[in-house]
Amino acid sequence: MSNNTEDQITQNVLNSMVQTPDPRLKKVMDSLITHLHDFIREVELTQEEWTLAIKFLTRTGQMCDDKRQEFILLSDITGVTMLVDAINHRLLDGATESTIFGPFYREGAQELPLGATISQDGRGEPAVVTGRVLSTDGTAIPGALLDIWETDENGLYEQQDPEQPDMNLRGKFRTDSEGRFYFVGIKPVSYAIPDDGPVGQLLRSLGRHPFRPAHIHLLISAEGFVPVTTHLFVKGDPYLDSDAVFGTKDSLVVDFIRHDSEVEAARYHVAVPFYTAEYDFVLKPLGR
Ligand code: BEZ
Ligand code: FE
Repeated sequence: MSNNTEDQITQNVLNSMVQTPDPRLKKVMDSLITHLHDFIREVELTQEEWTLAIKFLTRTGQMCDDKRQEFILLSDITGVTMLVDAINHRLLDGATESTIFGPFYREGAQELPLGATISQDGRGEPAVVTGRVLSTDGTAIPGALLDIWETDENGLYEQQDPEQPDMNLRGKFRTDSEGRFYFVGIKPVSYAIPDDGPVGQLLRSLGRHPFRPAHIHLLISAEGFVPVTTHLFVKGDPYLDSDAVFGTKDSLVVDFIRHDSEVEAARYHVAVPFYTAEYDFVLKPLGR
């Protein structure tokens, strides 16, 4: 019989798990219980706070369906998603830094010819994005695939907005024989993450805003290389230092340069004003 006092209960729970056959599960659960109990002792959690926490987690679960993942949002706004990402992408060797995947990716974007636009509704200010995909040794990677998605000028992804055409502002592009790519998107805008659920309530209770700095999402892959999930952020965005999901990395911030020349616009088949942004992505060879 164990005596479950405040002093002894942690050890009793740890003892109850000594037979765990999976050593990794044992390590994770031992640590989780130890830290969780220490946290509860440190803040001297009240009965009311514990009830509130259970209700919060219940509402978080109830908010989840095939279109909304409130638990991932909770992980995002607490920095957990990005910490797990950082721990799992330590050995970069000069490769492009990764960042948050987010909940708005959709499989099945069309592969488009280089130079095509991903905008189907013509809204927003055009942005011509150019660059190369390189290996960490500096050689070009022909045939690398860039899978791209971004919000419309209203800050909504197409699946959040019944006004947008299906798969608007999504597209795939392959680098040419010199590893070059270019595509037309729109200049990204900063937008609020979904904040109409318990995670939004938590943000407000903490005096935090729900905004992300303007960005384009990219998933870049090539045969024989480690794929990277990343963003391009817009230099000068007011939310770069307070991203609601802690996704910003200095190395991913680029200048979106404004152009007003009709002649230049005609070269890219876009209207004025338009923007250009240039970035070289670097992938790490597999198995190194
Ligand atoms: C996004 O950038 O699409 C995103 C990331 C995390 C939470 C919500 C949205
Ligand atoms: Fe996003």
